[in-house]
Amino acid sequence: QTTLPDIDPSKLEIRRTTSPKSIPLSKDLVFGHTFTDHMLMVPWSAKSGWGVPRIEPYGPLSLEPSCTVLHYAQTIFEGMKAYRQADGTITLFRPDMNMKLRIFNGDAFLELIKRLVRLDSNWIPTEPGHSLYIRPTMIGTQRAIGVNPPTEALLYVICCPVGPYYPQGFKPVSLHGTTEYIRAAPGGTGAFKLGVNYAPGVMPQKAAAKLGYAQNLWLHGPEHYLTEVGTMNLFVVFKHPDGTHELVTPPLDGMILPGVTRDSVLSLARGHSNGTHKLNLPEKLVVTERSVSMKEVKSASENGSLVELFGAGTAAVITTVDKIGYMGEDVLIPTGEDGLGPISRTIWRELVGRQTGAIPSDWSVVV
Ligand code: COI
Repeated sequence: QTTLPDIDPSKLEIRRTTSPKSIPLSKDLVFGHTFTDHMLMVPWSAKSGWGVPRIEPYGPLSLEPSCTVLHYAQTIFEGMKAYRQADGTITLFRPDMNMKLRIFNGDAFLELIKRLVRLDSNWIPTEPGHSLYIRPTMIGTQRAIGVNPPTEALLYVICCPVGPYYPQGFKPVSLHGTTEYIRAAPGGTGAFKLGVNYAPGVMPQKAAAKLGYAQNLWLHGPEHYLTEVGTMNLFVVFKHPDGTHELVTPPLDGMILPGVTRDSVLSLARGHSNGTHKLNLPEKLVVTERSVSMKEVKSASENGSLVELFGAGTAAVITTVDKIGYMGEDVLIPTGEDGLGPISRTIWRELVGRQTGAIPSDWSVVV
């Protein structure tokens, strides 16, 4: 039995651009609209395994019109960020978490991503809240009308300098809870970063915008459980009658993306609540992964036990929510004067500190 070749960084071929683009000012960046000078590509085929990795000038791909990504949405991707630290070092935040696809050697692929980031390192913005967003993507490329697992694929990586994901900047967002559409269902693909999970968001997002809300909130089942926003995972903070604060996020039940930022928030908050790493958070804090219904959020908003609600994601970082439009009414959520609440402020500071290197941590990996 022969073993097919895995990804091999030593074979990397680099063709540099001869016409580097001008780099926009950070204040002019619109999230995901500006791309760096180069991209990384690694072809794969079921017959011959992983091919020669190439870094080339960023540009259009040549695809057969019959290829499976164009018909059956065979595309899966990741999102990660590179930061320029105060001393000039470039770091990635918890990149091992993005390398878990297990169909190739994650360390080898990460080495190639580092080579790309180093080549385009002049594109990494240094302003607070800015970074280089990295989008590893894999698409099915074989010519075939018919639904089958891909026999040919392309793994590629593109990068964009970014600031805040939402157009309103680092301010709270409003959400519109959709009761009409669903993103995921039990037994479906909601837990994976597949392109197909984002298409159902277009209609409810349009509906949310028409009603003046920034984003659509996915609710699940007759109880209207909060799931995720589609652009970020969700956290809710309640203050219970005995004074305990509860930080809740929906459980990974197959319908929720297991985001790296979600995991980082849980880990920071759990470190505080179990006493291994005390943070500026309430003394009595419990961290739970459980379902939360809109009924619970609405009644907590009305009786004053809703402390805050925020989203967490690679693109969104920590984004607070100030209201949820639900069944024709607005459920109001407290936010502090600068838009952050007492828990999200600490979580944001601790998280961003570790991302930018201001707080040393083994989550930060040098490129
Ligand atoms: C990310 O946070 O990395 C995402 O992929 C969300 C996307 C809507 C930009």
